[in-house]
Amino acid sequence: MIIVIKIVALKFGTEKSITGCDAVGQIVKLGRNVNSNQFHIGEFVYGYIHGSSLLLPDNDAVEDYVSLDAKLAFKPNKNIEFSTVDSIPEGAVSTFEGAASIPCSWGTAGGSLFYHMGLDLEWEPKTPQRNFSVLVWGGSTGLGHALIQLLKSFNAFANIIVVASKQNQQKLKENGATDVFDYHDVDSIKRIADKYSKIQYLFDCVSNQQTINQVYRCADTKRGATVLNYMGIDISAIKFQFKADDVQFDGNILYLALGTKVVYGETVFEPNLSYRKVIIDFIQTVNPKLNSGELQHMPIRVYTNGPDSTLQIMKDVREGKNSGGVKLVATLK
Ligand SMILES: NC(=O)c1ccc[n+]([C@@H]2O[C@H](COP(=O)([O-])OP(=O)(O)OC[C@H]3O[C@@H](n4cnc5c(N)ncnc54)[C@H](OP(=O)(O)O)[C@@H]3O)[C@@H](O)[C@H]2O)c1
Repeated sequence: MIIVIKIVALKFGTEKSITGCDAVGQIVKLGRNVNSNQFHIGEFVYGYIHGSSLLLPDNDAVEDYVSLDAKLAFKPNKNIEFSTVDSIPEGAVSTFEGAASIPCSWGTAGGSLFYHMGLDLEWEPKTPQRNFSVLVWGGSTGLGHALIQLLKSFNAFANIIVVASKQNQQKLKENGATDVFDYHDVDSIKRIADKYSKIQYLFDCVSNQQTINQVYRCADTKRGATVLNYMGIDISAIKFQFKADDVQFDGNILYLALGTKVVYGETVFEPNLSYRKVIIDFIQTVNPKLNSGELQHMPIRVYTNGPDSTLQIMKDVREGKNSGGVKLVATLK
């Protein structure tokens, strides 16, 4: 949910554009190029939209009718239904709320691993795809929750080192973390460095000025490392005293999967069709695993007060009520 709030706060969209990126609903009409053998009117789908888009300001997730890119659509099992409880535990996608929690977080995690890192989409290979350690800073974010499960299931690295609040450690370890450090500890970076000196790939799942410097300081400056961020942060954010020649900076923008130009304020990202192809293949691979529960959505708190729920969620996220690894989902029915 942080991404939507940042889009609003940073005024990325035009004045009348509407925000909202994750949606689930029933197909009422097929677009011209949609494969009618694959999708049928009346079926349910879930997926993400570029809410607050400058190019398509009318299309967003907080609407009765939403236009979804069929190539990037997930399909739920046929018996999907609304949750009957306000708190849904981690599990398979079997509710509309569970489905709505998936697209943006999981797509972004998929782009990180299978485009930026170039990992193979091979489920549970016997040996780690890269024989070094990886750091996930912000393991309890929606993004971190997806990344950790994917890192484990695609046996990506020798060690998955995670940074999150202490109270979430047990759950994160069950999901695949090798070790968990608490970012509230003033010496958390030293603790990580004392135990793991060779972290060569680092994901900043919070991506602010403070965390990007913290993450950067955990990188292996001798063998070289890559730091990936999700808010378009560039190297000028890193304090002079921490800068190292062999640490690469990279950024992931999920909207590039739409195959169009992406405009964020004054920054324009050109269409990237290879990124789009990776995300299409990724969705095909993980969709059945999410429906079966081999990969699981995070715990969910459901808001049922119609459109007002979206405003309430934005307020609650600003107040940190989504901490502890819970996704806040509004139902509009
Ligand atoms: N580039 C893209 O395409 C893209 C797409 C999606 C998201 N994003 C970005 O990805 C980031 C994550 O978004 P999200 O919606 O997944 O987040 P989220 O679920 O709203 O994150 C909430 C969690 O952040 C954790 N947190 C807060 N401050 C932290 C810190 N200093 N260190 C470690 N963890 C901290 C808290 O964990 P604890 O409970 O452990 O304290 C909290 O549970 C955001 O920056 C968002 O803008 C970018």
